[in-house]
Amino acid sequence: MRILAIETSCDETAISVIEASGTESDASFLVRGNSLYSQAKKHASFGGVYPSLAKREHAANLVPLLASALRESRLQHAEASPPPPHVVSNIRTVLYREDELGGALLGFAEKVGTPAIDAIAVTKGPGLEPALWVGINFARALAYLWGLPIIPVHHLEGHLIASTVYVDPKDTRTYRMSDIAFPFIGLVLSGGHTEFIKATSWGSYTLLGGTRDDSIGEAFDKVARLLGLPYPGGPSLSHLAAKGRPALHRRTANASAGVKPLPRPMIASNDLDFSFSGIKTAVRYQVRDLGELSEEARTRLATEFEEAVVEVVLKKTTRAIATGEPLKHFLLGGGVSANTYLRERLESLFRTQYPNTGLHLPAPGLSTDNAIMIGMAGYFMHLRNEQTLQANDDLTADGNLSIEKTK
Ligand code: KG4
Ligand code: ZN
Repeated sequence: MRILAIETSCDETAISVIEASGTESDASFLVRGNSLYSQAKKHASFGGVYPSLAKREHAANLVPLLASALRESRLQHAEASPPPPHVVSNIRTVLYREDELGGALLGFAEKVGTPAIDAIAVTKGPGLEPALWVGINFARALAYLWGLPIIPVHHLEGHLIASTVYVDPKDTRTYRMSDIAFPFIGLVLSGGHTEFIKATSWGSYTLLGGTRDDSIGEAFDKVARLLGLPYPGGPSLSHLAAKGRPALHRRTANASAGVKPLPRPMIASNDLDFSFSGIKTAVRYQVRDLGELSEEARTRLATEFEEAVVEVVLKKTTRAIATGEPLKHFLLGGGVSANTYLRERLESLFRTQYPNTGLHLPAPGLSTDNAIMIGMAGYFMHLRNEQTLQANDDLTADGNLSIEKTK
């Protein structure tokens, strides 16, 4: 089954074309085309994602990304087939709110042939609602254009599936499903999420815990900003933290730079919840008290911050594993799962303490938001016979879409 997937829930605009086959346990996904545009630089001066800018950027970039993903996929019919008037009018109607997107799509449709695609998968939520709407309206316009069904996808299911696939060593454009036994626990750590999710099958999820205030990705981004590092803060902060890690005596090195230990919020609480706003505030006070930040103090604060959040994540992971029946698999997903130090510490935790639980981390490129994972989740929904929609059906964005549902 060939799926065109669209992701616009936050500040990545992404389109991919995947060819999926097999069952849930042995699925494989050939990536025929993949294009992604990160708006991060545009949002940098705001220190976070600015929703109306995200919406405008999605609208401006979707058609060029579509053109590039389709070209790469070589699935387009050689002859252009300009859409008939009623399709043109439907496309104008669904895209009338999206600035120039309708005109750009119609211009594109005049020039290119219909692709050999079976369905369109699009992120329904959760995420920034104005941003989600652009992707949804675009999916509806494409569904009119090519007469295809739409599969509305849960963004977090995409992150979970992205953690369980591996790159086929014989064909680096193909991802294959790992052998997963249920139940598993997944931890999604990103700019929008900090959640433990238990799955009893694909599609049946329970939320075990989450953040009570900031997400972990937000903490990285805000602390990075306090330290004068560029947005998105995760990669830049982690780079700086790595420089400070070799210090043998962390506390002594911190003290000589005037840096005090940071709190490990909720580390001892008997639940699977998190809280990250306290660490951010503690960094803010230290930065204020230190006045002019020396290079050494910045490095020490970055290392101390990463140490604090990783310790909390490890402790809560241990608790999550201890609370239920023996677990065969644990998944980590979301943008923060790209963090090298966190990955190393988790790998070492599982190697030494849970050798019988498989730890699954996303392949490179699948940690942060992308459309490949949305296509994969769309295929799984298709296998489960979950509702597919037509262009003229009611399809809405849901910024707070819950992952909990039981079959
Ligand atoms: O999953 P994602 O791309 O978008 C959301 O769904 O939110 O996650 C983005 C978040 C940002 O907060 C970013 O700073 C963080 O992931 N991130 C990292 C790293 N790479 C991205 N955090 C820590 N270390 C990294 N290497
Ligand atoms: Zn995400």
